[in-house]
Amino acid sequence: MQDKHIWSGRFSEPVAELVKRYTASVGFDYKLALFDIQGSLAHAEMLANCKIIGAEDFGDIQRGLAQIKEEILKGEFEWSLDAEDVHLNIERRLTAIVGDAGKRLHTGRSRNDQVATDVRLYLRSAIDELIELVKALQSALLDLAEQHTHTIMPGFTHLQVAQPISFAHHLMAYFEMLKRDAERLRDCRKRVNRLPLGAAALAGTSYPIQREMVADLLDFDGVCENSLDAVSDRDFAIEFTACAALIMTHLSRFSEELILWMSPRFGFIDIADRFCTGSSIMPQKKNPDVPELVRGKTGRVNGHLIALLTLMKGQPLAYNKDNQEDKEPLFDTVETLTQTLRIYADMITGIKVKPDAMRNAALQGYATATDLADYLVKKGLPFRDAHEVVARAVRFAEQKGCDLAEIPLAELQQFSADIANDVYGVLSLEGSLASRNHIGGTAPSQVIMAIARARINLMQ
Ligand code: ARG
Repeated sequence: MQDKHIWSGRFSEPVAELVKRYTASVGFDYKLALFDIQGSLAHAEMLANCKIIGAEDFGDIQRGLAQIKEEILKGEFEWSLDAEDVHLNIERRLTAIVGDAGKRLHTGRSRNDQVATDVRLYLRSAIDELIELVKALQSALLDLAEQHTHTIMPGFTHLQVAQPISFAHHLMAYFEMLKRDAERLRDCRKRVNRLPLGAAALAGTSYPIQREMVADLLDFDGVCENSLDAVSDRDFAIEFTACAALIMTHLSRFSEELILWMSPRFGFIDIADRFCTGSSIMPQKKNPDVPELVRGKTGRVNGHLIALLTLMKGQPLAYNKDNQEDKEPLFDTVETLTQTLRIYADMITGIKVKPDAMRNAALQGYATATDLADYLVKKGLPFRDAHEVVARAVRFAEQKGCDLAEIPLAELQQFSADIANDVYGVLSLEGSLASRNHIGGTAPSQVIMAIARARINLMQ
């Protein structure tokens, strides 16, 4: 026999089995259960305080919800498709446990403001955890950077050797990206942390409720100030997913570099075995599966962002069932990002750096050509002329198959009489790094200060 729906009074025939399965969300929104209970407890407390329900009913509701929470935590709660979603499952069970008090809980409330509240509570807690995970990754980056302020590698543009930099400087670029990512999450949290409850179905409610009280009980910073907006918009979820997509995008770029650096063609690093896998056919292989998957999963999170934007774009005010589709992309974004950040912090601590390979690569590709041009400018040559002189010197070195620093002075002077013996200091990798001595530059003294500032930033 079919269970009756809570709202079935108006209907002359039961909902088709196929439709029931199509419209039910309990298969995924059960993840909101504990937030749903938290929201219901605050709502009930306010109802009791405002004398909308009796103290006895409130006591029964508290007792019933406490029992349900325990059942859920123990994995004993029986979720039913017939009850459609997490909200109705819990309400039905509550009524089974405490009787009429359970039926009074929904006074002055609708599932529309209820679900919006649950999603916000869920997301707020997820954001708080994610900020900590971003910080843990940043801290792992700093630990690695600290050891490599004097480890020289080629910096690239167009993936061609450009100028020498330190490995620490390169890592600190990712620290900066993650710093902004954490800032974005904190900022997004402000807009997530508003209470929809009280909006009821869409227009508010005729009971003498006190929304601020519920907001206080649930630690919201305030209430959503328009009831139609409160139940219908999911911009906070879209905004969060955009923040998540950016974090994944940053980690995807980093992953691409780790993959390149681990290839024997670069040979700059080794990733600990526990983050790699072998091949079922090629016995020699050690593949950087984790960074590759991070790169792949970025597509998935970016997809969720587009899914949520598309979900919202055509909806008239106020609530529409479309919004039920916000959950799976949002949950999967949170879960994917959580796992990715966790594994990444761990992987960073397992990176083995190969300074010799980095240095050798920096010595190829005329990485100090700009330094030679700057040297000539400091001797009075206009920069464009200096650029031309150095270009000719590079072509010459290329033909000889040597580095700029290996060309004897007499031969260098053929390109410009301004070149003197002190040029060799400029052509060295160390000299090149040390000369970029300003905030944001790759000079070891600057990077050391950047790391110190970063440590302070992480403590905030
Ligand atoms: N499961 C629904 C959702 O996720 C809850 C709200 C349902 N409201 C309604 N009027 N049908 O959006």
